[in-house]
Amino acid sequence: MAFTAIILAAGKGSRLKSNLPKPLHRVGGNPMLGWVIDSATSAGATQIIPVISKDSPALEAYLSDFEVAIQDPPLGTGHAVLAASAHIKDKSKPLIILFGDTPLISAASISALAKTIEEGLDICVVGFETESQKGYGRLVFDGSGQLTRIVEESEASSAEKEITTVNGGMMAGRADVMLSLLETLSPDNSQGEIFLTDIIASGHAAGHKINAIFIDQSEISGVNSRADLAHIERLLQHKLRAAAMAQGATLIAPETVFLSSDTVLERDVVIEPHVVFGAGVHIGEGSIIKAFSHLEGVQTKACCVIGPYARLRPGTELDEGVKIGNFVETKKARIAAGAKVNHLSYIGDAEVGEQANIGAGTITCNYDGFNKHQTLIGAGAFIGSNTALVAPVSVGAGAIIGAGSTITKNVPDDGLGLTRAPQANSENMADKLRQRFQKAKKK
Ligand code: UD1
Ligand code: CA
Repeated sequence: MAFTAIILAAGKGSRLKSNLPKPLHRVGGNPMLGWVIDSATSAGATQIIPVISKDSPALEAYLSDFEVAIQDPPLGTGHAVLAASAHIKDKSKPLIILFGDTPLISAASISALAKTIEEGLDICVVGFETESQKGYGRLVFDGSGQLTRIVEESEASSAEKEITTVNGGMMAGRADVMLSLLETLSPDNSQGEIFLTDIIASGHAAGHKINAIFIDQSEISGVNSRADLAHIERLLQHKLRAAAMAQGATLIAPETVFLSSDTVLERDVVIEPHVVFGAGVHIGEGSIIKAFSHLEGVQTKACCVIGPYARLRPGTELDEGVKIGNFVETKKARIAAGAKVNHLSYIGDAEVGEQANIGAGTITCNYDGFNKHQTLIGAGAFIGSNTALVAPVSVGAGAIIGAGSTITKNVPDDGLGLTRAPQANSENMADKLRQRFQKAKKK
C-alpha cells in the first residue's frame, strides 16, 4: 500500500547519556532507525522522510540515501511532523508517523495502520493496554467508545493518570487533514511543545473520523534509557530465535544465542549454547556451530563444523564440509571443501585448497606493520603444527610443511618445506643441570 512515512528522530535522547544519537544505538546489530526504515519499506512506503535535528553529522551520514527534514530547534512531535511537511512529494497519499526510537514496529502493523486510512478513517493511532502506563499518553474515549483526545502524562489529571489504555506514539492519517490540524496547534502546555497527539482533540471537534487500533505492546516499546535498550534487545532476540527455529535450525539453548537481523541459518543447522552472530552471517544446511563461537561476515556451504571457541571474522568463506576447531581465528579466508583447521590457528588473507590440513598453531603472518599480504595453500597440502607462513607466500598442492617451520619462500606442488634448527642432545646433562640449580637455590 502506498504511503509516506515520516520517521521522527530529532529528539535529544538525553536519558541515554550518550554521544551517539539515540536512533543510531543498535539492537540486533542494526541501528534502531534502520529497523524502522526496513519495516516502513517492506510495508510499501513510497517515500520515507526522516526528521532529525541540525548538527547531527552521524545521523546525516547514516541517512545519506534519504531526503531528510531538519527540525530546528525540536519543539515536540507535532512540530517535527510539520518540519517534514515541505518534503512530502505526494500529499494525496496517507501519512504514517513512526518513531526512530521504537524499532520493533512490524511491517504488518504499519500496513494495518495504513489500511485504516484507505478504508476511510481520517486519523488512526496505535494503542495498547498496560499496567505500567507511566510516561505514555493516555487514550480518552467517550461513553460511546469514540476516541476524543490523547492526554500526555505531563498534562494528565490524577484521574486521567489511572487510564491504562495508552498511545503507542505512531499514527496514520490523511496528509491534508493531519497537516491542517497541526498548523492550528500551539505549544501551550507544561512542556512548551507542539504535541502530535493534540490533533486528536481538535480533529474530533472538527468532526473527522478518528479511531485507534491495538497491537502487541512489544512492537511499540520505545527506548528512552539504556535499560530500555536492553529490554528491546531481549524482545528482539526472542523474535529472531523463534524465527530461526521456525526456519528449521536447532538452537539447543536459544536464550544464550545472539542473532543479527540478517543472520541466515539454513535447514538442519545446529547451534550449540553461547554463540554470537554479528552482521552478515549465512550458515549452510546441516552445519554445526559449537559452543562459545563468535561469527561475523561469514558465508558457509553445507555441513561445516565450527568451534567450540572459534572466531570467524568478516570475509570468511567456507565450502562444504570445512572444519574449524577450537581457538581458531579466520579473516578474509576462503577455505575450500573438506579442509580442516582444527586447533589454535590464525588464518587471515588466505586461500586454502580442498582437503588441506592445517596443523595446530599455524599462523599466517599476513601483516608487516604496513600492508596485508596473501597466503595461498594448495589442495591437499599438509601444514605441520606451529608453522609460521610469512606472507606473501604460497604452498603448492600436496606439499608438506614440517612442524615448527617458518616459511618465507614459496613451496612447490608436492614439495617439502622445512626450516628447523638442528637438535643437540647432551648425555646426562639434565641431571647435571638439576644439581647446579639445586646448589644455587637460595635457602
Ligand atoms: C510520545 C507520545 C506519547 C506516547 C509515547 C509512546 C507525543 C506528544 N507523545 O511521547 O503519547 O505514549 O510517545 O512512546 O507524541 N521527536 C522529534 N522531535 C521532537 C520531539 C520528539 O523528532 O521535537 C522524536 C523523538 O526523537 C522520538 C519521538 O519523536 O523518536 C517520540 O518523542 P519522545 O519525546 O520520546 O515522546 P514521548 O514523550 O515518549
Ligand atoms: Ca519516547
